[in-house]
Amino acid sequence: MEHKEDKLKEVISHAKEYGFVFPSSEIYDGLAATYDYGQLGSELKNNIKSYWWKSMVQMHENIVGIDSAIFMHPTTWKASGHVDAFNDPLIDNKDSKKRYRADVLIEEFIEKIRMKIEKEVEKGIKKFGDDFDETQFRATHPNVLRNKEKINEIEDRMRETLGKNDLEGVYNLIVDLEIACPISGTKNWTEVRQFNLMFSTELGSVAGDASTIYLRPETAQGIFVNFLNVQKSGRMKIPFGIAQIGKAFRNEIVARQFIFRMREFEQMEMQFFVRPGEEMKWYEYWKEARSNWHKALGLGDHNYRFHDHIKLAHYANAAADIEFNFPMGFKELEGIHSRTDYDLKQHEQFSGKKLQYFDPELNQNYVPFVVETSVGLDRMFLAVLSASHKNEVLEDGSERTVLTLPPALAPYKVAIMPLTKKDGLPEKAREIIDQLKFDFLCQYDEKDSIGKRYRRQDAIGTPFSVTVDHQTLEDHTVTIRDRDTMDQVRVNVADLFSIIDQKVNMRKLLV
Ligand code: GAP
Repeated sequence: MEHKEDKLKEVISHAKEYGFVFPSSEIYDGLAATYDYGQLGSELKNNIKSYWWKSMVQMHENIVGIDSAIFMHPTTWKASGHVDAFNDPLIDNKDSKKRYRADVLIEEFIEKIRMKIEKEVEKGIKKFGDDFDETQFRATHPNVLRNKEKINEIEDRMRETLGKNDLEGVYNLIVDLEIACPISGTKNWTEVRQFNLMFSTELGSVAGDASTIYLRPETAQGIFVNFLNVQKSGRMKIPFGIAQIGKAFRNEIVARQFIFRMREFEQMEMQFFVRPGEEMKWYEYWKEARSNWHKALGLGDHNYRFHDHIKLAHYANAAADIEFNFPMGFKELEGIHSRTDYDLKQHEQFSGKKLQYFDPELNQNYVPFVVETSVGLDRMFLAVLSASHKNEVLEDGSERTVLTLPPALAPYKVAIMPLTKKDGLPEKAREIIDQLKFDFLCQYDEKDSIGKRYRRQDAIGTPFSVTVDHQTLEDHTVTIRDRDTMDQVRVNVADLFSIIDQKVNMRKLLV
């Protein structure tokens, strides 16, 4: 099996070679953890956005979308709690001089124990074969039980210390677990300190008048402050949602693992406003709905799992992550949070304006509760790209690298290739593109052998390649090749639209 780090490196270099993702300002040697999306990357990203927007806004009568400003009145962030509480606990190793998030060090330690449990289960499967009862094994095997207990103990201590902001307690936990720095291998740690993640800058040109403003660390606050604007102008009735896609910024202590953790990234967030007391019902509803949205992409149901938060954000009373099996292992892809009425109440208090809803059925005013779904667009991109990237050995012994992207998300839907550059074939190929380009992004390719051209399309995930040959000029038929099966069939030019549309139409994902 391919090593996980090698897999990530391969995905990064493939992404660069084919124009999906470039290191930002590369001619100046780049900027740490900052990336640019290239010509194919921006197509893939737009298609992911479109899938999310359609499934949220177009498919729900009671969800509407907005696009709020990145800069907001500074009091927004005081009210939301981000100025005081949007912190990460950090710790430095004195020998390697590397800085870590203390909670992540502990979580990685827990993950290692989880791996031990999985290894034990794998041994059981090998030993007992078909007779293996996994549920019973997990519930009774002494090594599994011991490790589970260990995890529970650590998680309890984590919850307790992080919950109380007991930084000394977090430090003691790291020391007691004998966690070593992955770089230096030593346990020579500094104390744990809090670090605010918001970027700030100054508004105004006169120094004295300048006031600190922040780059938004989440898009959600733009939704909260517009809650009444949207509710009133859109005549929205509870329960209803407001969706938004946009950039967010966090001064991450450790930004690494390609586009997984960046300081500038994009979020797709939806705040669902509900009656107080009904939030848990909707929390469960959205957990399931969002899990289904991910799984519809066909990247493999086994690649997803839920993870309940140990340390709840300052605004939440329940929170879970949908984790994805990235090349670096299972990590957070999306968060679903029950945010109570915390944000709206805080904004009421700080602004002095009422942010309430009159419920005609109850004949009552109240501050709605909120269930939020929040998925990182860049993390979605990495999930889709890494799960689709495959090196295959074909029947004839040759090899190909293929991106088996969900067809609805693929940048190009079809490549049109004249067999030769003469005899009117290029003109015929362009004629076909002129028919298809209103519905699909098409690529024209006339260079190299057809075999090489197929490989190039495989490498960028184009679901179909169409070859125009001399017979096309006589009977208006072409050869269409399927990226995944590599089957080639002769079809009428007039049928191309429906063949392609059937496979790449986003409708398939939305039903
Ligand atoms: N409004 C809630 C919120 O912001 P979060 O769990 O902090 O919650 C939501 O972030 C999602 O945003 C995460 O699940 C992740 O996909 C994405 N995200 C967060 N920080 C990120 C970063 N530094 N780089 C890329 N994506 C990030």
